[in-house]
Amino acid sequence: MKRRTFVSGSAALAAAGFASRTASAASIKPYSWDLNPPTDTRDNFIAWGKSRGEDPVFLGQRWDRFQALVKNKDIWGAATIRAFLLTPREEFASINPAIHKRAYEHAFLDIGYGVTMSGPHIQGRMTNVIDVKRGEKVLEIGTGSGVQSAYIANLTENAYTIEIIAPLQARTSALYDKLIEKGYTEYQHIKRKAADGYYGWEEAGPFDKIIVTCGIDHVPPPLLQQLKPGGLMVIPVGPPGAQRVLKVAKLQGADGSITTTREDIYGGKIVPFVPFTKLEGDKIVGTHNR
Ligand SMILES: C[S@@+](CC[C@H](N)C(=O)[O-])C[C@H]1O[C@@H](n2cnc3c(N)ncnc32)[C@H](O)[C@@H]1O
Repeated sequence: MKRRTFVSGSAALAAAGFASRTASAASIKPYSWDLNPPTDTRDNFIAWGKSRGEDPVFLGQRWDRFQALVKNKDIWGAATIRAFLLTPREEFASINPAIHKRAYEHAFLDIGYGVTMSGPHIQGRMTNVIDVKRGEKVLEIGTGSGVQSAYIANLTENAYTIEIIAPLQARTSALYDKLIEKGYTEYQHIKRKAADGYYGWEEAGPFDKIIVTCGIDHVPPPLLQQLKPGGLMVIPVGPPGAQRVLKVAKLQGADGSITTTREDIYGGKIVPFVPFTKLEGDKIVGTHNR
């Protein structure tokens, strides 16, 4: 089994043109677990976010998308709603001027390197389905823009994320560092590395929850192995461009035997994801599909 791991530092912040395109370094009120954005009215939410130091235009868009997600049953439960309302998607979309203002759209958005930032509807539902409790250890495969792990960081201090495209991983890692400086201190708990996520993160496991954000035709055995008995994984499984998003539960019987159950979180609807690619040496070569 060939594996390469590149652990990045924050030096990549200086990547050409990057800093100038990100939102200003002005501070916001630092994160704490006691922060509770209002959920009663749009005006109250915007006023609250504005007093924290966020942009009222994006706050309005965040509120409107939140309302649509609730209506469409893509988000439910106080903890996930809080995570959504505290996460500035616009900061993660700021790396591409063409998508910055579209951060809250019901769409996959181009973040460069041939990959996308998943839409809030998919991220909301996938996050809700794994039902993360504070203190649980959660692994994400496919860091991409970084916004999915940003949601997780509002649910637990034990978030881990892996990205296979090394320069994308470095860019997102630098963005997290910049946002931590700005006041989004919850992101300091996101442990990150550039590697082939097919093999999971053995030294950090086992995990209570695993969230996979790239599509593959089977559940990677190393990921199932690194999931705790009683744990949950959410993963797009199926042929290229035609995955179904499955919730996989790992169960342990009284005799120690391990079984799994699978449930389609969209009731059979096809949801295409970018491919779960494969690293050979330093190069991405093909996919892990069998
Ligand atoms: C839909 S995209 C990004 C989703 C991301 N969670 C977000 O919120 O923006 C999926 C990501 O999975 C990454 N990926 C694909 N194969 C991978 C692998 N074997 N290991 C780790 N990441 C992988 C892609 O490079 C891409 O960035």
